[in-house]
Amino acid sequence: MRLIPLKQADQVGLWSARYIVDRIKAFAPTPERPFVLGLPTGGTPLSTYRRLIQLYQQGDVSFANVVTFNMDEYVGLPAEHPQSYRRFMYDNFFSHVDLRDENIHLLDGNAPDLLAECQGYEEKIRRYGKIHLFMGGVGNDGHIAFNEPASSLNSRTRIKTLTEDTRLANARFFDGDMQQVPKLALTVGVGTLMDAEEIMILVTGHAKALALQAAVEGSVNHMWTISTLQLHPKSLIVCDEACTMEL
Ligand code: GLP
Repeated sequence: MRLIPLKQADQVGLWSARYIVDRIKAFAPTPERPFVLGLPTGGTPLSTYRRLIQLYQQGDVSFANVVTFNMDEYVGLPAEHPQSYRRFMYDNFFSHVDLRDENIHLLDGNAPDLLAECQGYEEKIRRYGKIHLFMGGVGNDGHIAFNEPASSLNSRTRIKTLTEDTRLANARFFDGDMQQVPKLALTVGVGTLMDAEEIMILVTGHAKALALQAAVEGSVNHMWTISTLQLHPKSLIVCDEACTMEL
């Protein structure tokens, strides 16, 4: 596992955006052989998305032959709800670059059969062979995607009940009103993430200090699902100084 400590959170955005662009360019994707990119939502990756849009506008990268898979989605929020992860992705990234709609994959938290939706998602990933680079963030309690504490380290895409802590942390996006925060989500599993050729997790801010400590110094365990990165042959954590306080 590589740890890239940077001074400020916005440097994490720039570094990770450049890293993604370098990976895409080195891969030289074509329509027949696209680059498969896993993507997160949340406050942390926002600066990465801003930088990726800038790099695209400067002509440094094209996403025309990039396929994306998002890591999670709330259950039961209308697709156009301002806090749905679908809406977040279109507002903050997809609508600003040359990604093709047919290459964008998002879990549907309103699917009539949620189990089939999850199994179908795994199947779609398998059809591409693998995800080349999965970018993610981390929750204060060390969860990656919505793999809350006590998730199986072999888990696949499934329905997950969100912990009170996660709902509390995400209430800031719902006018601070816990009642509005969904209780369930669909999420790729820890196993799904671990199957990616490469994983890059972004960690910023004091609130993530214990999660970073668990990732780097803790034992691999299912209470801090980020610790699984230690078992991955090509994992990367890009962080700012604020979250290194417990190291
Ligand atoms: C949610 C998302 C995670 C994200 C986490 C932290 O739980 N499912 O993918 O990493 O929030 O978000 P933030 O970056 O806003 O702290």
